[in-house]
Amino acid sequence: MSAKSTPRNQPRKVFIKTYGCQMNVYDSDRMVDALGADGYVETKVMDDADLVLLNTCHIREKASEKVFSELGRIRDFRDERGAGAKKMLIGVAGCVAQAEGEEIMARAPAVDLVIGPQSYHRLPDLVSRAHNERVIDTEFPEEDKFAHLPAPKREVTIARGLTAFLTVQEGCDKFCSFCVVPYTRGAEVSRPVAQVLNEARGLAGAGVREVTLLGQNVNAYHGLDDKGRPVGLGALCHMLAEIEGLERIRYTTSHPRDMDDELIAAHRDLPQLMPYLHLPIQSGSDGILKAMNRRHTARQYLDLIDRIRAARPDIALSGDFIVGFPGETDADFADTLAIVEKVGYASAYSFKYSIRPGTPGAEMDNQVDEAVKTERLAALQAAITHKQQAFNAGCVGLTLPVLMEKPGRMPGQVAGRSPYLQPVHVMADAALIGQIVPVNITAQGKNSLSGTIVTADRLAV
Ligand code: 5AD
Ligand code: SF4
Repeated sequence: MSAKSTPRNQPRKVFIKTYGCQMNVYDSDRMVDALGADGYVETKVMDDADLVLLNTCHIREKASEKVFSELGRIRDFRDERGAGAKKMLIGVAGCVAQAEGEEIMARAPAVDLVIGPQSYHRLPDLVSRAHNERVIDTEFPEEDKFAHLPAPKREVTIARGLTAFLTVQEGCDKFCSFCVVPYTRGAEVSRPVAQVLNEARGLAGAGVREVTLLGQNVNAYHGLDDKGRPVGLGALCHMLAEIEGLERIRYTTSHPRDMDDELIAAHRDLPQLMPYLHLPIQSGSDGILKAMNRRHTARQYLDLIDRIRAARPDIALSGDFIVGFPGETDADFADTLAIVEKVGYASAYSFKYSIRPGTPGAEMDNQVDEAVKTERLAALQAAITHKQQAFNAGCVGLTLPVLMEKPGRMPGQVAGRSPYLQPVHVMADAALIGQIVPVNITAQGKNSLSGTIVTADRLAV
């Protein structure tokens, strides 16, 4: 190969394109950190990259399919650069790498490296090897990858902004019958408490004000403390709330069965724990919930919501829904619409059921017509939007503490977030970025709020 490599004295550059969930966003940063220790810096443009990584998502068919078309584009781009350009390695990470690693190697000869989510601590070594041979690592290694992944440099954390993700738990043992996660991310594992607190202290020390704890089943968290005792998510939030500078704590995604009393009480007792909860039910029909192996009924979910609201009456609820799961009838779907009505979600995500090879749902013979799925999705999304707008309208006239995050799109504007995770636009001095300020909400947009800062003299009235 006549391609040049980057001269030794220049940092090599990695370009990462991230698909899918927030955990992938977190993982991409950790991959940059791992490569950073090996002399790489991140670039936001592919043109001058020495290494291009796709961090992929397998959750639905559409997400997975994107990988092969994107790989085709990257290969063409590399070919067009010609033999004189510097060498560019192509790697595939994430959940498609885990699930379809061998197929990627077979179907996409341009790919130099395939790496599953549990091997990211090995990335620098694998990249070195990939210079000489095609490499695939989709093992579930014995060692704790988090113990081996380097912490980001302080200036890197600062550059990433005021809010950060922090994975505390990974994998899933629930085996919902539609879902690939137990196969792509493996068994449920919680990070030790000290590791989580250390990482959080590092983030807060570099100016992070809000941390979102991540896990596919985050409220099943049961990391061990220094004495080897398991600690639940509620207790972990209490410990995190002690960290100076960390003013807001969020967590996602939760399973209804793991919402224990301690965590519910934390929503009542901890001002740092934001009043927002993503608690998917997936369907409002008990028959479908059973077929999905969710292991709870609609009634149990609603009772749980009552208990959470008793602890924190203003909590904003969010959820996920799947329409057109095998066997779903009009009556089942009506039950789903009824749940949306009863819960009054502040936001919710909805998807057409997508057959995932290897999951029990894929084997079910009563699959629903695509046209029916399309119709139901539209109806569900209309119902959700209605509720979301009602929730936002209920915020107009309130004074909410807003974390001022970044310059807004319009000159003189700052964009922030309410405790309920709504984007809030305020005309304000950019010097306020990083602070939590009281904002009187004056109007609602489609997906956001706007307002004016309440000045000290008006607050005193
Ligand atoms: N088809 C459609 N949606 C799915 N989800 C997970 N698996 C599937 C699938 N096979 C949705 C669920 C989950 C969210 C992350 O993605 O609603 O909560
Ligand atoms: Fe997609 Fe799930 Fe993997 Fe996240 S964990 S990238 S949602 S398949």
